[in-house]
Amino acid sequence: MPSRKLRWGVISTSNIGRVAVIPAIRAAKNSELVAVASRDAEKGRDFAQRLNIPRSYGSYEALLAAQDIEAVYIPLPNSLHREWAIKAAQSGKHILCEKPLALNAAECLEMEAVAQENHVKLMEAFMYRFHPQTQVVLELVKQGVPGKVHLVHSSFTFRLTRTDNIRFKPELGGGALMDVGCYCVNFSRMVIGSEPVEAQAYARWGSTGVDDQLVGTLRFADGTLAQFDCGLTLERRESFEVVGTEAALYSSQAFLPGTEELTFFERRGRKGEIPHKVQGADEYQLMVEYFADCVLEDKPLRFPASEAAANMRAIDALYRSARADGKPQPVQR
Ligand SMILES: NC(=O)c1ccc[n+]([C@@H]2O[C@H](COP(=O)([O-])OP(=O)(O)OC[C@H]3O[C@@H](n4cnc5c(N)ncnc54)[C@H](OP(=O)(O)O)[C@@H]3O)[C@@H](O)[C@H]2O)c1
Repeated sequence: MPSRKLRWGVISTSNIGRVAVIPAIRAAKNSELVAVASRDAEKGRDFAQRLNIPRSYGSYEALLAAQDIEAVYIPLPNSLHREWAIKAAQSGKHILCEKPLALNAAECLEMEAVAQENHVKLMEAFMYRFHPQTQVVLELVKQGVPGKVHLVHSSFTFRLTRTDNIRFKPELGGGALMDVGCYCVNFSRMVIGSEPVEAQAYARWGSTGVDDQLVGTLRFADGTLAQFDCGLTLERRESFEVVGTEAALYSSQAFLPGTEELTFFERRGRKGEIPHKVQGADEYQLMVEYFADCVLEDKPLRFPASEAAANMRAIDALYRSARADGKPQPVQR
């Protein structure tokens, strides 16, 4: 058992906090949920009451001023991540911030610098990295089970029904690549184990101006390719295929594998496929416990903000390409 629990505040009454991360903070062995803040005091009070959260604040500033809160979880619209992560760091709070960490790589680096100056930890909340399936796949790749990986395919699409959703608002950092394509980019870079040098993308732009759909390719220095598609207006799909010289690893539950036991497959052409069973887990709880452990024990993060900046460099280049009708763009170093 950990010697003490990290004391958390949650910034906003967001949906993802309500359904996944607040329950995860509650379930985490080394964490304690202290308060929530909303722009609207009454909304914050109602939320706190319904979710049985001890305190609520009527502004984000008020929560950041609370001396007994050590860490904050930031599930704000993407365009607000930078501002509130910086304010949290300046208030001496450790920060678990939703994905994508910011609107672009430059913002990620600025946030990282402020976190460092204030001696606090900052991590992007890509929860799928903590699920056992992701760990097993990375281990199989490391052992060379698929052979040399030259190609990663991934998809993350779903259909939003509400047109007033933050994901359709360009001014809030909406768009399919920002919302779900960022997982595909993150997974591809992690499996390939290096940074892409060039990006190409085509988008289907929606009426509000965000990418409702985007198909992207990343080229790595040794010629390895990653291809993905993402969308906010399509049937739900989430899959990866890690294709090597000997086998392909395939999962249809790539990013939200869930708490039930699941199976992914090692496909070996005519030789058939080998099922790999993986235990289910609450990936949000594992992420919260990992982050709290790094804070409480003052350990370096496996996924620091510089890693989020690298992801955003690829996303920046993909958007540049999509806006240039698919003209390939270099990924900045
Ligand atoms: N890791 C995951 O599995 C996952 C899943 C879904 C979303 N996310 C990420 O989590 C973040 C939030 O997504 P969500 O779907 O939970 O959003 P949401 O339900 O729309 O919540 C966003 C919250 O931000 C606050 N807010 C402040 N300024 C706002 C503005 N101008 N417009 C709208 N809301 C504003 C609101 O809280 P108050 O009114 O209480 O201040 C609102 O409840 C995004 O970065 C998204 O990418 C991650």
